[in-house]
Amino acid sequence: MHRIVLDVDTGVDDALAIAYAVRSSALDILGITTCFGNVPVEHATRNTLHVLERLGAAGVPVAMGEAAPLFHPSMKSYPVQFHGENGLGNLAFPDPAAKPVSTSAAAFMVDQIRRYPKQVTLICVGPLTNLAAAILQAPEISSLVRQIIVMGGAVGVAGNRRMHAEANVYSDPEAAQLVFQSGAPITLVGLDVTMQTELSLEDIQRWRDLDSDLTRFLADMTSYYIGGYREAYGDRTGCALHDPLAVAVAIDPTLVEVQPMVLQVDLEGIHSYGRTIADLRPRCTDQPNVNVCIGVDAKRFQEHFMETLMK
Ligand code: BDR
Ligand code: CA
Repeated sequence: MHRIVLDVDTGVDDALAIAYAVRSSALDILGITTCFGNVPVEHATRNTLHVLERLGAAGVPVAMGEAAPLFHPSMKSYPVQFHGENGLGNLAFPDPAAKPVSTSAAAFMVDQIRRYPKQVTLICVGPLTNLAAAILQAPEISSLVRQIIVMGGAVGVAGNRRMHAEANVYSDPEAAQLVFQSGAPITLVGLDVTMQTELSLEDIQRWRDLDSDLTRFLADMTSYYIGGYREAYGDRTGCALHDPLAVAVAIDPTLVEVQPMVLQVDLEGIHSYGRTIADLRPRCTDQPNVNVCIGVDAKRFQEHFMETLMK
């Protein structure tokens, strides 16, 4: 089994990613770390604990992380249209019985990577603030981590938070740049591939037909998310599976095609702050720092995702 730490800003698609990871027999979840992003970090933590409880996985340690970007003030606006005020499509639920562990998210990441050198895959599906804080605390983790899979960025396609910037990178661009320049082995699962994936209304109906406590919850929460997609992208009938695709890449890297690139985050542009920019010049002699996903077998991934969550 593949040891992972999942870093989330739970959010609907983060919740789907957690469910997918917990139900996958290929992954050993050492813990989940939480960050601000789709919602404030306290909500992300509460949501994460609740989703784990629903999955019967309340024993998975949860470490609460950063409440704001590392180097600039928080933008204080959350994507309510997609995730709802509470991050889980406004579904009401009681306070989870489990509490977060006493270590911070960054310290938790450092501890796990030191404990299992070259064995831990970090799957980061929120702003990269926790990971940047971990690298600042213990720079050696960049060479001790097995792999970092990041859901974030948009290299050859439009942004979703700003015209060029994807939401996770835009939420803390300096943190993302610090991570990308850290020398760690990074795979970027950006909008280039995640926007090719889709969870459809028929899939939601399959969950409703199964009628278990978990699949009813997944269907209700994801219906809200799809509503947001309909408003934002008139031509879509379902929603993209951003964060679950990052989990899928840990389970089966053959689902994506990657290209090593020299990648930077724009930290100064008026219109492009937070944009992920690749140096694609043939004469560029810099060493590639990120493996960027440029293709995905969306159908095979979606089938595996549904199959895993219908078990
Ligand atoms: C990313 O932004 C968040 O809203 C989603 O959870 C996902 O991680 C997509 O750009
Ligand atoms: Ca997310």
